[in-house]
Amino acid sequence: MTYNLAEKTWPMIEEYLKSKKSIIIPVGSTEQHGPNGLIGIDYMSSWEIAKKVGERTKTLVSPPLCFGMALHHMAFPGTMSLTPLTYVAVLTELFQSLAKHGFRHFTVINGHGGNIPSLNAAFSQVLNGEQDYQFKLINWWHLPEVGVYEKEHFGDANGFHATCGEVSVTMHTHQEAYKEVPTNFKFAPTVREYPWPMSPQQFRTTFSDGRMGSDPSLATAAHGEKIFNIAVDAICQKIGS
Ligand code: NI
Repeated sequence: MTYNLAEKTWPMIEEYLKSKKSIIIPVGSTEQHGPNGLIGIDYMSSWEIAKKVGERTKTLVSPPLCFGMALHHMAFPGTMSLTPLTYVAVLTELFQSLAKHGFRHFTVINGHGGNIPSLNAAFSQVLNGEQDYQFKLINWWHLPEVGVYEKEHFGDANGFHATCGEVSVTMHTHQEAYKEVPTNFKFAPTVREYPWPMSPQQFRTTFSDGRMGSDPSLATAAHGEKIFNIAVDAICQKIGS
C-alpha cells in the first residue's frame, strides 16, 4: 500500500487524519554533484528514503520539495536554487498548509546541508505561538549509522559534497540514469580547508569539478543499497510507527 499523499484522494486524507497527525516531508536540492553525480541526488535520495519509511511506519509522505538553498553551486550548469528568504517562505507556507488540515507532527527528511538553516527558520516561523506542533529534522547523511558504514568503506574519501555515500544511494535508486553518465572523467585535486560561506565563483575556483573532498569513483549501487537500508532502518526507529 502506498503512503504517497499525491496518490490519495482528499477523503482518504480526511480519514487518515482521524487517527494520525503525522506526515513526512522529503526535501532536497537540484544542484551539481561533481563529474559523476546526478544533479537531482539530494531530493532523489530523500524522496526514495521517505517513501520507504512511509510504507514501513504507515505514515503519509508529501511530494518532495526538489529545490532548496544551493546558491553556492550556481556556477555549475544545471543547478536551480532558491534564495534563503524565498526558501524559508516556501517551506513555511507548505507546513502551514498541512497544519491547516490538522497535521501536527512533521518529520522532514532532508538531503542537502545548505537547507538546514532555512528549515530551522521555517520551523520557528510555524511554531510561533503553537503548542502542539512537533518538528523533527532528519538529515539522512548525518545519521550516525550511515556515518559508521561510510567511514568503514570510504574513510576520508567520503568527503563533504558529491560524497561516495550519496552518489552510491542514487546509483542504487536510479540505476538507469547512471548508465548514461560517462565514466572516463578525471578527478581534479580537491581541498579540505576552505572559507565558508563562498560565492558561486569562489566555489567553482576552489572546487573546480564540483566535489568537496570526495572520491566518488568509489561509489557503487551495492554500497548504495546498504546505505539506503541503513538510513531507512535508522529513521523508522527514530519516528516509530
Ligand atoms: Ni548532495
